[in-house]
Formats: sequence, C-alpha cells, structure tokens
Amino acid sequence: MQSSDIHSFEDYQKAYNYSIEQPEKFWEEQANKLKWTKKWDKTLQWNFDEPNIKWFEGGQLNITENCLDRHLERRGNKIALIWEPNDPKERFLRLTYKELYDRVCQMANVLKRNGISKGDVVCIYMPMIPELTVSVLACARIGAIHSVVFAGFSASALAGRIEDAQAKLILTSDGLNRGAKQIPTKRIVDEALENCPSVEKVIVVDRLGWAVDMKEGRDSYLHNELPLVDKNCPPTPMDAEDPLFILYTSGSTGKPKGVVHTTAGYAIFVDYTFRNVFQMNESDSFWCTADIGWVTGHSYIVYGPLLAGATTTMFEGVPTFPDPGRFWQVIDKYGITHFYTAPTAIRSLMAAGEDHVLSYSLDSLKVIGSVGEPINEEAWHWYNIHVGKERCPIVDTWWQTETAGIMISSLAGVTPTKPSYAAYPLPGVQPVLLDGDGKELHGNSVEGYLCIKYPWPGILRTTYGDHERCRQTYFSNYKGYYFTGDGAKRDENGLYRIIGRVDDVINVSGHRFGTAEIENAININQKVVESAVVGYPHDIKGQGIYAFVILWDEGANENPDRIRSEINETITAEIGKIAKPDKIQIVRGLPKTRSGKIMRRILRKIAENELGSLGDTSTLLDPTVVDEIIEGRL
Ligand code: WTA
Repeated sequence: MQSSDIHSFEDYQKAYNYSIEQPEKFWEEQANKLKWTKKWDKTLQWNFDEPNIKWFEGGQLNITENCLDRHLERRGNKIALIWEPNDPKERFLRLTYKELYDRVCQMANVLKRNGISKGDVVCIYMPMIPELTVSVLACARIGAIHSVVFAGFSASALAGRIEDAQAKLILTSDGLNRGAKQIPTKRIVDEALENCPSVEKVIVVDRLGWAVDMKEGRDSYLHNELPLVDKNCPPTPMDAEDPLFILYTSGSTGKPKGVVHTTAGYAIFVDYTFRNVFQMNESDSFWCTADIGWVTGHSYIVYGPLLAGATTTMFEGVPTFPDPGRFWQVIDKYGITHFYTAPTAIRSLMAAGEDHVLSYSLDSLKVIGSVGEPINEEAWHWYNIHVGKERCPIVDTWWQTETAGIMISSLAGVTPTKPSYAAYPLPGVQPVLLDGDGKELHGNSVEGYLCIKYPWPGILRTTYGDHERCRQTYFSNYKGYYFTGDGAKRDENGLYRIIGRVDDVINVSGHRFGTAEIENAININQKVVESAVVGYPHDIKGQGIYAFVILWDEGANENPDRIRSEINETITAEIGKIAKPDKIQIVRGLPKTRSGKIMRRILRKIAENELGSLGDTSTLLDPTVVDEIIEGRL
C-alpha cells in the first residue's frame, strides 16, 4: 500500500501550513508519488476568471499504469477487486492485481477493435458488475474519455448524455439486478439510441442470460469479442491535461452538465485524498457502497484504492436486500476494514432497527466514512455506536463531482472529529466563507457561502462542450473564487459544518437534482400549466422533493391521484424513478412577484412546514394563493 504522509495532528498542521505557503511545491511532492512517462514543465497555471486551470503541463502519464502495472511486481497476487453479487447465494468474485490488469488490457483491445482511439467518448451504462470497473479502466488505458451514466437513469436521460458527449460506443449489459427487481438495461439503451446517431457500436455484457435484441452491425456480446483480442495492451501516454472522463451532474439550470476531469490532476488528487483520509495499511480492505455511476464510485471504488494498491470492493445489490443486515453481512464476510457509505443508507438501516446490525460482529472495521449529504447527529451517533462500536473514527467527507475528491474531512484517527461536522480542510485545500456581498468572513464562529480560493489538482476544468456554462455556474457568483453551491459554518475551533445547498439543487438520498430539471419533466405533461419544485427535510432521504403544480382547466376536473401518477410516469421516463416527487400538490396559483418571478423561498417554507416565517407576502401579485397553498399542504 502507498500510505499516508500524515500521522498526527501536528503533521497535519505542518502539512497544511506548508500547502498554503508553497502550494506548488506541496503538490509537486504528491505528483512525484506517481509514475510519469514524462515529467512536467510547469506545475500550475491558473486564473478563475475564464476559468483556465492547468496542472503539470508538459507531463505525461497514464492513470491505469499507476493503478495496475505499477503494482504488479509487489502486489501481482494481492486482491485488487472483490465483487459481491446482488444475491448473497450467487458466487462472488475476487480478482488479483494481475487478473484485473489482464482483463483491463483485453477490454481495452476490444474497444480498439471496435474503432475506439484516444479522445473518443465511450458511454458506460452498466450495473455494478466487475465489467464496469474493467470498462472504466480500459477506456483510460487507451485514452478514450469515459462517460459513465448511472444505470437508474431513464432512456431519455441517457440519450441526452450520449448526445451531449457525442459518444461513439456504449458498453452495457442485457439487464441488471437491483434487490428483488430486474431491469432491462439493453432495452433502455436501444430506446435511447433511437435518437443518437453518434453511436456506432454497442457492446453487451451477458449478466442475466437474457435473449435481448441485437442490432446487426451495431451490437455484439462482450464474450464474443474477448476471444478475438490478445491480452497485451500498453498504456497510452496521456498529456497531463488530456480529459480522463466526463460525468454528468445536475445544477440549478435545466440540463445536467458534463463535468470534465483531466488526467494528471485527477490522479494526483484522488490518490492523495484516498491515502490520507482513510489511512489504510497493506492488508486492509476497503468498501465504498456508492455506485460507479456517481463520482464517489469513480474516485473511491475505482481510482483511489487502485492507485494506492489497496483492495477495493464492489457491491451489486442494495442495503435492504434480502434484508437490512446485508451491509453488515458483507463486512463480516470479507473482513472489511474501511467502510464508506452515505447518510441516507445509514438512516434507512437505522430505521430498520438494531437487531440486524447487532447480528454481525463487525470486528474487522477500523474506519467508517460518510459522504454525499450532511449527516445529522442522530445518524452519526447510531453509526458510531452500532457500526463503529465507538472505536472506529468516522470520516465525514465533504466534496463534490466538481472537486474530484475529498476536500474537507478529518483524517481517520489523526485529526479531530465532531458529530455532523466535516471538520478541517485537507492540506492543499483553501476554503473560505463569504457573505452575501462576496466578502470573506475571517475568523471563527461564522457562517456563509462556501467557496474555494486556490486551485487544487482535482478541480473541474470545464463543462463538456460549454465552457461558458462552467464559468457562469462556478466562477461568476464570487469573482476570483470557485463557488461550491453549499452554505457552511465554521465553529469556534475552525471546524467546518456543511449546512446544505444554497442554490436550486436538491440532494435526495445523496443524489443531486436541479429543481428546474424536475420542473421541465413535469411540464411535459399536457395538462400542466406550470410547476415549482422545492426540497424539504426528509427523515431517510435527507431531502424530499415537493412539487407544486398548476393545471389547465381540463386537468383541474380530473382525479388528482390520476394526475399525480401521470406526472410520476413522465418523470420516470424523462429522468428516472429516483427523481419522483414525494409530494405533488395541485394548486391554483404560485406565489409570484409582480414581475412574475416565483417566490421559491415561500414555497420552501411551506414545504418545510415553517409557516411562521413566510415573511412579507403582501407584495405578491396575488397574496391569497399563499393561504390556499397552505390550506392544501400535503
Ligand atoms: C453534498 C458527492 C454535507 C453537498 C461526493 C455537495 C455533503 C453535494 C457532503 C455534492 C458531506 C457531499 N456533508 N454535504 N460530507 N458530501 N455533500 O456532486 O451539498 O454528488 O455540494 O458529490 O453533496 O454532490 P455530488
């Protein structure tokens, strides 16, 4: 294992100060831990105005050479990847570094045989099976840009992402298992491809043994492709700033945007954060329960652990199938030492009662982590007592798709923790809190908009095909800063607590949705005039989705439940089931200013049931709608 550099709070403080005084030197030292084909000429060039950020220009490396080849000599026979299937009765799989290396090289050759070369975009729409990890690495091996789309997204959402990235090839499976359900992945791909002329080839993994439609000349099975290629595939040297992947994420405006990460900066940052936050030893086993369709899976199932030479685990199933003891059973089964999950999973398992977790020993655990949304104190304590047995440090890691890796978190067992606080920034990360006018709030015990004032190697470089959107979203609100979209507070000791999004983004079970994205889907229904979507606190999901909908006259006479189910169907088709509102209230009007702007603040307060703090409503176009909405509250 490539280990941590920081072993005490004192080390942390030293490293932090050094990273502020000499940021370039600090990151050069981290960069030197990787294997480069060619050393860089210039460490950093940046401005946050355009933005234009370049790390380690002139350097060349391949991230898979660092994840795989580099470890073969010392760790060829070490387990790189554990795969646990959805059904506990099905056989699991373990791949050594050598076996994973062979599979990645073969898969890379399959891509090449199918016309893929450096710079092409490959879309991966797959369940959590070993071929997913192999596919991601195979793309990186030959310099193809991967765009992984979470396999819970609908055909229409998938098509939008394929189109935007102009993907040439899709990797998918016949179907997928999710708990007791099976989902026809290939059929969804076929539907998406009706409108995606850029796609030339589709390669299908036979996961369920289903007979799926295969389009002549376009589709082939992976098991028919593999025998046609050899196992040898040298890594393509990539320029430091060559794109490594695109990952779509929702923002305040309608369409999800393709966050672009580049090769060297991503590799350095993910390697550095993985080693220092989790503090693993050579014989430890890591399990991150995220899906590789989200950034957490990219960085802390695939790249981070493999860069470090660790053992990483992939789980195909869900936390509650066949019962809510599933996570704990898997931890005992493999002797997992480092467990990383989301608050929403913790809360849902907490709601299932202690019996499940108490049936397992969990003796192997050393460190437990949380990511994706604020963890409330109750869930933090439950996690600490019942899972960590009050002996495992909890790392509450704050970061984003755009940051590539962990930004604010305690380093396990090394720096202080505090329930519901992400704690201190990692060395190399310079967060600030700004007030509404964009002025920095100095000192402690302050609360404001969370921004970052200096680049780190993992910062997003652009949004695919639309650089202006990247500038506007992240670099225009507060000049000279990267704006995270989150609000945060710094306590009397300088520890950070993330409060939540301050923009029109809702975080549902750790998944981000733009309110506009959901409204656009609702508005497709012909009976809908207009809608407004807000988030509200939800016991399990963190935030729930509350939709206020105005109907045309003909819809107003229909059964509201029927309209609700129609709206749900449209959202399922446009985005996916995960974006279905928890509540849909049919209203006569929405609170609007005289200039026609919807007052979301008022709707949020109503959804949160904070009726005492609605503020002044007398300036609204029609103040009576507010009373009506309150009366009809769900
Ligand atoms: C939220 C997931 C509080 C935050 C890695 C951020 C968190 C958004 C935490 C990014 C945390 C993530 N505490 N909030 N530890 N981690 N968030 O892009 O609002 O899916 O902006 O990345 O999740 O979500 P994303």
